[in-house]
Formats: sequence, C-alpha cells, structure tokens
Amino acid sequence: MTRRAYLAGNWKMHLDRGSIAEFCEATSAFPSGEGAPRVGLFPPAVYLAETAAALRGSEIVVGAQTARPEDHGAFTGEVAMRMVRDVGATAVIVGHSERRHVFGETDADVRARVDAALALGLEVVLCVGETLDERERDETATVVLRQLDAGLSGIDGATVAEAVTVAYEPVWAIGTGRTASPGQAQEVHALVRARLAETHGEDVAAHTIIQYGGSVKPGNIAELLACPDVDGALVGGASLDPASFAAIVAAGVA
Ligand code: PGA
Repeated sequence: MTRRAYLAGNWKMHLDRGSIAEFCEATSAFPSGEGAPRVGLFPPAVYLAETAAALRGSEIVVGAQTARPEDHGAFTGEVAMRMVRDVGATAVIVGHSERRHVFGETDADVRARVDAALALGLEVVLCVGETLDERERDETATVVLRQLDAGLSGIDGATVAEAVTVAYEPVWAIGTGRTASPGQAQEVHALVRARLAETHGEDVAAHTIIQYGGSVKPGNIAELLACPDVDGALVGGASLDPASFAAIVAAGVA
C-alpha cells in the first residue's frame, strides 16, 4: 500500500518568536493538495500556542517536543499533555533520544507519556533508536524492538494506525552529520514494521507511518524516502531554515 509521506521538523531549543513567525509565513509555499505529504512542526513549548495559532486552518500538524503525562502537579518547569492540547496543538513527540539520554526518561516514562497523549486524543511520534555502542555490540534490533514494544504493546490497533507515528532515530546519526545509509535505515524500518505486524496485525503495520531521523537534509531525503519502509522523516537541524525544510517536504510529494 502507499502511505502518505510525513515530514516533521523538531526545532529542539532553537528559533525564537520572530524566526518562527517568518517560518510559519513561509509554509504557505509548501506543497499542498493532491500528492502533498503531511507536514508537522514541533516548536519549543513556549511558542506552541502561537505556532498553532499561526498555522490554524492549514493542514500542518503542530505538536510539542515532550510533555508530562500528569494533568497537573508539582513539576516545576514542566508542561502537561493536557496543556499541549489546550493551546491548540494536536501532537507530541515521545521518547526522543535526547529525552531518554539527557533527561533520563525510561521505557516506562515513555509509555506513560504515550498513554496520556493518546487518552487526550493527541497524536504521538514515538522515537526509538540505538546508540553507537549498542549498534557496535550488534544490539540494534534488541534495543529498537524493546523500545517499540514498551511504547505500544497492548494499545488498540486502530489507535496505533491512526494516532501513532514511529520515528527510527539511530542516536549516532542525530546531529552528527552521520546519516544512516538507506540500507541501514530500511533494515530497521522493516524490522519495526514486522514487529508491528506481529503485535498489532498486518493491517496496522501496513498503515503505520515510520519516519527516519538523524541528519536528514535536502541532499539525502530522496534516497531515504525511496526505501519501501521509510515513510517520512523527523528532521532536526535541517528543519530550522524554511528553505531547507521546504526542499525536504518537496521530496515527499507523491
Ligand atoms: P538532526 O536531528 O536532524 O539534527 O540529526 C534529528 C532529531 O533529533 O530528531
């Protein structure tokens, strides 16, 4: 089956009010209509409301880079999933490797966020990926499938197919300029899809979007998207400039 490509920009702790306003303006030139890919933007939390407001009425998905699962509580500095939805965002990234490795989020923390987001009707981009050490120890499949199972096991198939995107992001490829080769990406994407077929059924596996992430750029997106199980990308550095992100989005036109 053909899946609609989904290209998402994770702005991490970059950009500001002015550059985000300019970026939002520039999205009016992104491909739209028949054959256009789905586009998502994930601004820093303080800019979520204004990004969502600026893009209201467009088809662009606006989401948070993380959020806590509790509805409220004594979590100084944190933002709840409920607040993400309240300001008009419709999606959230969960389990990004920086959350796992810099902020110590465990598989259980990730799962609590997946459950909370889905319960609120937010879409989830669930990130999975191995570190360089794990790849060198030949543990890529074990780690990625453990993270996938921990994130999604037991969740209703229809919900996964509709509201979950999986992003395979090898940690050694993030922000390093070292992209996984199309062959390396395809191998893991195929593993993820096969596992989804086992755990959630063939139909769910066939519908679920699996993005690749890690040093995606205008110059390598086409060869990645040409892989049968690579359905899009989660882009960090190259999503900060509207022209560069537009070129990545253009590669997703069917
Ligand atoms: P990068 O980041 O494109 O800058 O490597 C990707 C990500 O962390 O999602």
